[in-house]
Amino acid sequence: MSIVNTFEINEPLDMHLHLRDGDMLKLVGPLTSNTFSGALIMPNLVPPVTTKEALLDYKQRIKEACSGDDFEPYVTLFFQTTYSYDFLKDVKDDIIGIKLYPAGITTNSQTGVSSMDVEVLRPTLEAMSKLGIPLCIHGETNGFVMDREKEFMPIYESIASAFPDLKIIMEHITTKDAIDLLDKYDNLYATVTLHHLLITLDDVAGGALQPHLFCKPIAKRPEDRTALLNTALKGHPKLMFGSDSAPHPKHKKECCGCAAGVFTSPIALQVLTELFDKYQSLDNLNAFVSLNAQKFYGLKPVKKTIKLVKKDFEVPSIYEYKDENVVPMYAGETIAWSIA
Ligand code: NCD
Ligand code: ZN
Repeated sequence: MSIVNTFEINEPLDMHLHLRDGDMLKLVGPLTSNTFSGALIMPNLVPPVTTKEALLDYKQRIKEACSGDDFEPYVTLFFQTTYSYDFLKDVKDDIIGIKLYPAGITTNSQTGVSSMDVEVLRPTLEAMSKLGIPLCIHGETNGFVMDREKEFMPIYESIASAFPDLKIIMEHITTKDAIDLLDKYDNLYATVTLHHLLITLDDVAGGALQPHLFCKPIAKRPEDRTALLNTALKGHPKLMFGSDSAPHPKHKKECCGCAAGVFTSPIALQVLTELFDKYQSLDNLNAFVSLNAQKFYGLKPVKKTIKLVKKDFEVPSIYEYKDENVVPMYAGETIAWSIA
């Protein structure tokens, strides 16, 4: 067993990221852009990003917040069944994909789709398929919380088979069921977060409640985590890293009615390196965190080599800017790898 003390990640990409807006954007934007070459930005602002104007303005605000870094925000639209073919054609070159949320399923998704029926979605999905716009899906039903993703599998199957030319990304998968589906349809792909490779429901609620590990979809069972981890460690070509880093201010996490979302941007590359090193899989880390996404989305990210060294990194207990703050995963703990 050889001991590795340094590792390089080239053009890291985060294919599922919440950057919010205003001072929160100014706080969290640079915590991604200082290490990542690019990120796929979620559109669940209040109100959600549904027009070309809102999209381009948001992209501009992200660029300003991250202006110290070479970083490309790949922006997305919030799926609406009312989008016309002409609108999508006009906006196609400005977006990397469209994010579909079932209504009310997670933070800021109230205006998502009220039916996942293929016939209801057909006009929009047909247009997207023709125009080559990928569809990113938050795949949960409103069933029992541990079964929501599993129950969504037949919906993924019906969309994947009805639109064979539409590229579909199962976002932030958390179950073995989703891993099993990945290879069944050529047009199904997935992202997985850092935290779902690490934790199960036990870490969230098995002891004292851990609000900073509470997110949608909720972390599942040990066998689910094992299936996700093994697939990521292999560098499976259809699985991409998407942190789903979702900042909420401390007072909205450490309270009754805790908001869903785990904030991982500032620890992601260090912990991924620690994890892939632990399982002797560093050879596949660049595929997982960049190459798979480059190939799938046809990206040419800005050149950026991040050097990691086996040296303790003490995770700050909180990040702050003006009146905004956010507590990261592993706050106050030590990670075995740091960014050089
Ligand atoms: C996300 C958020 O806070 O915007 N929350 C989360 O728990 N992941 C929304 C989402 O991706 O579901
Ligand atoms: Zn998300």
